[in-house]
Amino acid sequence: MYAKCATTEPMEDARKVFEWMPNHNVMSWTAIITGHVQSGGLDTTAIELYCKMITQGDVLPNHFTYSSHLKACASLSNLQVGTAILKKRERRLCVILVTSNPLSFALTTLVFLLPFLPSYIYTILAYIEKMAAFIRVASTSSPTLLASTSSSSSIFTKFRSIPHLGFHFSVNTASASGNRLLFCTRRGKRMAHTIAKATLGLTHPVEIESPKITFAAKDINLVEWKGDILAIGVTEKDMIKDENSKFQNAVLKKIDSELNGLLSEVSNEEDFTGRAGQSTVLRLSDLGTKRVSLVGLGKGPTGSSTSAYRSLGESVASAAKASQANNVAVALASSEGLTPELKLATASAIATGALLGTYEDNRFKSESKKLALKSVDFLGLGTGPELEKKLKYAEDICAGVILGKELVNAPANVLTPEVLAEEAKKIASTYSDVFTATILDTEQCKELKMGSYLGVAAASANPPKFIHLCYKPPSGSVKTKLALVGKGLTFDSGGYNIKTGAGCLIELMKFDMGGSAAVLGAAKALGQIKPAGVEVHFIVAACENMISGTGMRPGDILTASNGKTIEVNNTDAEGRLTLADALVYACNQGVDKIVDLATLTGACIVALGPSIAGIFTPSDDLAKEVVAASEVAGEKLWRLPMEESYWESMKSGVADMVNTGGRQGGSITAALFLKQFVDENVQWLHIDMAGPVWNDKKKTATGFAIPTLVEWVVANSSS
Ligand code: BES
Ligand code: MN
Ligand code: ZN
Repeated sequence: MYAKCATTEPMEDARKVFEWMPNHNVMSWTAIITGHVQSGGLDTTAIELYCKMITQGDVLPNHFTYSSHLKACASLSNLQVGTAILKKRERRLCVILVTSNPLSFALTTLVFLLPFLPSYIYTILAYIEKMAAFIRVASTSSPTLLASTSSSSSIFTKFRSIPHLGFHFSVNTASASGNRLLFCTRRGKRMAHTIAKATLGLTHPVEIESPKITFAAKDINLVEWKGDILAIGVTEKDMIKDENSKFQNAVLKKIDSELNGLLSEVSNEEDFTGRAGQSTVLRLSDLGTKRVSLVGLGKGPTGSSTSAYRSLGESVASAAKASQANNVAVALASSEGLTPELKLATASAIATGALLGTYEDNRFKSESKKLALKSVDFLGLGTGPELEKKLKYAEDICAGVILGKELVNAPANVLTPEVLAEEAKKIASTYSDVFTATILDTEQCKELKMGSYLGVAAASANPPKFIHLCYKPPSGSVKTKLALVGKGLTFDSGGYNIKTGAGCLIELMKFDMGGSAAVLGAAKALGQIKPAGVEVHFIVAACENMISGTGMRPGDILTASNGKTIEVNNTDAEGRLTLADALVYACNQGVDKIVDLATLTGACIVALGPSIAGIFTPSDDLAKEVVAASEVAGEKLWRLPMEESYWESMKSGVADMVNTGGRQGGSITAALFLKQFVDENVQWLHIDMAGPVWNDKKKTATGFAIPTLVEWVVANSSS
């Protein structure tokens, strides 16, 4: 794996070299070894001065050497320096060589690297200009040598021809390269962005150990349970009382009598009738449980009850938070009537609500409280291995949802396309039995002729990353091949059609990678669930929509990887441009069905509001499948038409199409645009999740679509 990009301007004097150093956060390296190879017209005083500055600075690297021994380009001393570094077991090294001669750079580098060859694999970033050369050495899992300069490419061609070196070489700009490498200083599992470079604004997410809540199904009587909160889900029917204002429901009657009528009294006083959203908590002193809480379920289970039971779990979570409870139990006032299947689904929905309800994303807060809740017991919902399996399944989905939320919540200065790609790689390495990861850089996307995607990415200082994770079941044959394609705009400024005016939500456009977060969240969950008989491709064309002299202009014509040309009449309709090439790529994987997800249009929020996603598909069968999955998952989708006559507004005078129609039917014309990039023999469905990606009241990401995607993949599996 290697990265490439354009070359830099020739450097005029050595001072420029030193401007480069702070930009690349040289001070955070644990060791800096520097020296000059030849003076040849260089301002060596400046070098020495700069070195002094470093040594006197308040953030000192652990080791610092300035050595003029590096003078002789291929001398033994270089070998010694290399060996010394190796001995010190330094993992983050910055080696700066200054040379006027590219050949001496090549030789010095080679000699310097010799001691490393048999040991770990190193990532090397080299920067050479006419007069200066830098090499940074650091350990990572992927060997890369990046170099920069027009004059250096020939040297690297020679390097490349040395097979036992085990490095890949390519040309890269100095200015971008320092930002592009991820280095590990400590071992252990961390979000990729915690190991990323020092970010803009110096923000690094705090690593918070995710709380572990254990779920257990128990077969004991409610009144015998001992703990902090006993929560009982009650329907309006359960709350009906007799002429003496006493409960008729057996469970409530029993507890009420244990409490000498306190429960019925309180519910009368507080007018608690079991409506959905209602809840009440009683503090007790003479029962095994410290508190009893009644949570309203409304009219009671009708049709899909997932979301009602999930809300019950969420109420339990907030009651637990409010009273710092360690352990809670959940029961239903009338669970006897439920079939074994419904009991499983109920327990799993409650567990999901409890897990997600207790979760708080505090990674960017300087202080946060630790969660007290340790265990949730299910009473009256059965016991046994099937229930345990179902609860584990719910936990797997929640882990995916939490990842999805964290990806969306992470701001664009932390979560760059590169960091998103690192997250994908991390999923692949965590579940390496089922996943492989392929990350394509700009050059590789160019080779695949992804002009539409690269057009969007062109203005950004953060290079695009095309992410492809492939899931294959751990054993058995594959019967169905699926693709999940997610829009991955880590930030959408609008480009030259910049987002302006109140309500344009530019300050929230970090969430424009919500589709990709859903795709990666689902990947994580599926990595744990490991469904059989199904191959799944997770595809994200990640980039930023920014403004700069290199960015695409309104009116530019882009050529997508299927050869179709697009006149960009609005740079803010960028999501569809990135999805175009991602959909072509997905079709080339030979898949049977594709679901794409995108925060694609503001128009979809106007049409369906903040909590319903729009779906678009020419296939009634696929619509049915995905809607069924969403009902199991408790998420809301609504099918909108793909009205072909609206394509009229997408016609261009000079290209095959424009990228935006008028204001009317904006979500439909967007879907019609995407259709241009999907093979006719592949079933395809598009989800516009611009509304549900974000919870405006709670000011946080929702993790929307992850449960639905997992259910859909599992429904397509054959286990
Ligand atoms: N990411 C936005 C869509 C969006 C807007 C999502 C508001 C959530 C909230 C997308 O890239 C976009 O800008 N769409 C334009 C399309 C228009 C230019 C045809 C829009 O919806 O305004
Ligand atoms: Mn946009
Ligand atoms: Zn967008």
